[in-house]
Amino acid sequence: MKLQLVTFMLASLFGRCHVAPAFGDAFQLGTEQSYSYWNEVRAGNTRNVSLTVGYIVRATIRAATVWGNDEHKLLRFQVESPTLSTTPGDVSRKSTLSEIGSAPFFAYWNLGQIKKIYVDENNDVTLTNFKRGVASLFQYQLLDGKYVEVDPSATCDVQYTSYDETRYRKARSNCVFAGERFERSEYPLRSSTVYSRNVDFTVSTEGSLDNVKAEDYFEYSVNAYDKFGSFLESIVKLDSKGSTVKVKTIQKNTIEEAVKSLGLKEKTLLSEDYIPKCTNKNCDTFAKLINAHKKSLANERIGKQGTSKLFLQLVKLGRTTSTETFQRVLKDEAMQEQRGQVLDLLGAIQTVASHKAAKSFLSFESDEEMFLAERYLQALAVGSRPQKAVIEDLLAMAEKRPNEEKFYDTLVQTVASLANRYAKLPGNSFETNVVQQVQDYLVKQLNRCGKDRCKQKFIRGLHNLKSPQTLNVLVKLALEGSSKTSVAAMKALRSFSVFLWNDEFRATFEDILFQVSKKFDTSARALALDILLDLKPDYDELTHLAQLLKSNDKAYELKQYLLQKLNMLADRCPHFATMLRKVIQNDPRLNNYHVIGARGLSTALMRTYSSVPSFNATLESLQEMSGGVLKRGVVDLALEVGEEKFSMFTLGLFAGGLSSFVSSNDEEENVDDSDSIAGMELSVQGSVFRPLVFFDGKGELMGHVWSGTASEPTPAYQATTLLQDNEQRFALQNGAVFHLSTLGAISIDLNGQVTMSIWGRNAHSKVEQNTGIVVSGSVKLDTTFVSLDVCFVASQEPQLHLTSDLDFSSDPTLCMQVMQPNSVLSQTFERSVSAPMAKYRKIRQTKITHKIAGVTHVLNQKNNNMCNLIAQS
Ligand SMILES: *[C@@H]1O[C@H](CO)[C@@H](O)[C@H](O)[C@H]1NC(C)=O
Ligand SMILES: *[C@@H]1O[C@H](CO)[C@@H](O)[C@H](O)[C@H]1NC(C)=O
Repeated sequence: MKLQLVTFMLASLFGRCHVAPAFGDAFQLGTEQSYSYWNEVRAGNTRNVSLTVGYIVRATIRAATVWGNDEHKLLRFQVESPTLSTTPGDVSRKSTLSEIGSAPFFAYWNLGQIKKIYVDENNDVTLTNFKRGVASLFQYQLLDGKYVEVDPSATCDVQYTSYDETRYRKARSNCVFAGERFERSEYPLRSSTVYSRNVDFTVSTEGSLDNVKAEDYFEYSVNAYDKFGSFLESIVKLDSKGSTVKVKTIQKNTIEEAVKSLGLKEKTLLSEDYIPKCTNKNCDTFAKLINAHKKSLANERIGKQGTSKLFLQLVKLGRTTSTETFQRVLKDEAMQEQRGQVLDLLGAIQTVASHKAAKSFLSFESDEEMFLAERYLQALAVGSRPQKAVIEDLLAMAEKRPNEEKFYDTLVQTVASLANRYAKLPGNSFETNVVQQVQDYLVKQLNRCGKDRCKQKFIRGLHNLKSPQTLNVLVKLALEGSSKTSVAAMKALRSFSVFLWNDEFRATFEDILFQVSKKFDTSARALALDILLDLKPDYDELTHLAQLLKSNDKAYELKQYLLQKLNMLADRCPHFATMLRKVIQNDPRLNNYHVIGARGLSTALMRTYSSVPSFNATLESLQEMSGGVLKRGVVDLALEVGEEKFSMFTLGLFAGGLSSFVSSNDEEENVDDSDSIAGMELSVQGSVFRPLVFFDGKGELMGHVWSGTASEPTPAYQATTLLQDNEQRFALQNGAVFHLSTLGAISIDLNGQVTMSIWGRNAHSKVEQNTGIVVSGSVKLDTTFVSLDVCFVASQEPQLHLTSDLDFSSDPTLCMQVMQPNSVLSQTFERSVSAPMAKYRKIRQTKITHKIAGVTHVLNQKNNNMCNLIAQS
């Protein structure tokens, strides 16, 4: 072992001694070599790689060594007769590039690495970037091994591998890319970048550069759709023209003195960002765009793709818009109809400037103003870029405890949601100071509460915060709280990641489900069951859960709920279906009609909402009934990508104390006889809003929505929010900087209508959800001499219609129908290339439309039977 080590050290010493002079031969002082330079850049759609735009730059490059010793050298580069051509396009645009060639630039070479370049102060950024790309081609090692190198795009580990004495490859890994980037933490809403970057080069037997081929390939796609995105490819070739000429050298003693004598500006190899300034009069601004498209922002246009498309453009512009501009838009009398959507926008833009503007505008005098204040807070709650300053501001507002109860509730939910999203940003966690402050506030307020309603507000806050540090608080409330508190705590617990549930938590949920220590509300039990099933039970655990079906527990609706959920899971997963069949077959007491055909109206269903070629999404409906009426209902629309699920929208319904209106001779335990209450609980992108209570208390029942006169559908939720939000910047090896970005928006209009006749003993409800979904992404490369831009946009207007008929004239029957009308998915790819100095621009567009057939979802046999019964009566 020791001997080996010594041999190795000797070998590597010898290696070094042998190779070091090779560099000396490579850039011989006072010599200059000429190379032909060729760079082709292409960009296109990932779906069809034959549809591209691109450009080619050709030039002659002269590289001279004007000062040097073995370790340090000063290289001089001169770019001659550069030309630019574009595809599509036929004219060569020589003149536009002449500036690159006008003056030489220099590079400081140190043992194979280019440490600095020296350029004319007046060079624009993109020409300097081009020079960085040229200089970096002369950065190479002749000894195989791992090095750390900086090039125009990143600092990377670089592996040099030689194929023979003159042919080498360098491969980069662990790159730390320059430039800010932003992306959401939720995988289904993210975009993926795949890249490869390689350099192959050959040297002469003396070690001087013969030719180089440097390749970059970037593929950028939106996770939510299959193969939906763009690619960018760059190939640089440098070939020696063979001849070497003598040149004058700089007569200085040190490299520092030599550099100083140039009188040029020193720069690193890392490319600098460049964003072309909009100089012509047609430039879009936030105010201009909003005025031009006022109509698209009216409330009746919510739920349409046009609204979402405009929303994306406005968010982009709004991120650099001033507080004053926002204030002017908000105060504009002509914008009165649009204020709701403008506040949605401010919430999505989520800068300190937009927050200031919204805050200065909001007041709470009238119901209308209150509605707008809450709308802004709800938009902020689901925004993708939470700001610390905004969270602190809202927390301070909450600490002052506003008098308006609904606004206060919404404020608490918004602060909690923002803190949750803030904790998930890179570099943050639930331990981050401001997140802790929000958590402390919520827990402290919760402890101060006396009444259930107060507790529910702060439990919902913890639900939105989802800090693992609060699990014990929630478990305690689930176990020891009143019925309502316990259910609220269980709802919160269900929203946490299943990865948190260890054996101890599992035992707690089993206690609640099987009522080991005491009796629990059936909704708390159903939620405990949901969690235990989320944990993907194995055979033994499933056998244990199934015991509930044959037990003498009187909660027959809970048994039905379990049965429904088992069937639902078996429908979606063949492995689970096999296991479930085994569990039932192995227990004769389970395998009989009374158990399998248990009574009860509770249902659990999961159906495909959308699939390829559009995004994959499922619709889950859980309806827990009690005494013939709905007790807790959830309809959830979730985006699915790979193994990951993201809840886009959840409509929750809750009711209590209604069973007395329906049937009186029910032996089910736990039928609650509290005051009647009914309401709706929405969550958008995982943020739960304060509940909308339809009525509360026996006296009010007949006087409200359910009085049988609600013949017009009433909007329950209308808003446009961001989905995807991604921005990245990279540079190619040729020095050019490019930007990747994706924004997506969903505009939702949910309206409903409920009619109920106590005399006819029936109820009818209709809920319609109209959505406009747009995702728009781009890959943009900009320089002062050429620009490439590839955009991809997908848009669709899916709708969902839910109707239910309940007849409780005798044995209650419930018929539900879920329908999705036809829709169209359109995908547009636009590619453009322009040479700004030559005033040249070409745009190509490809559009694909897919007709998505409508579907009436088959629910289950029991539902079909009941629909038939109702149809006959
Ligand atoms: C790609 O586009 C070209 C030109 O429009 C077309 O001929 C070709 O069929 C397309 N290929 C695919 C795979 O769609
Ligand atoms: C959607 O689901 C199909 C079928 O499971 C799968 O092949 C496809 O890759 C999924 N698409 C996305 C974007 O997850």
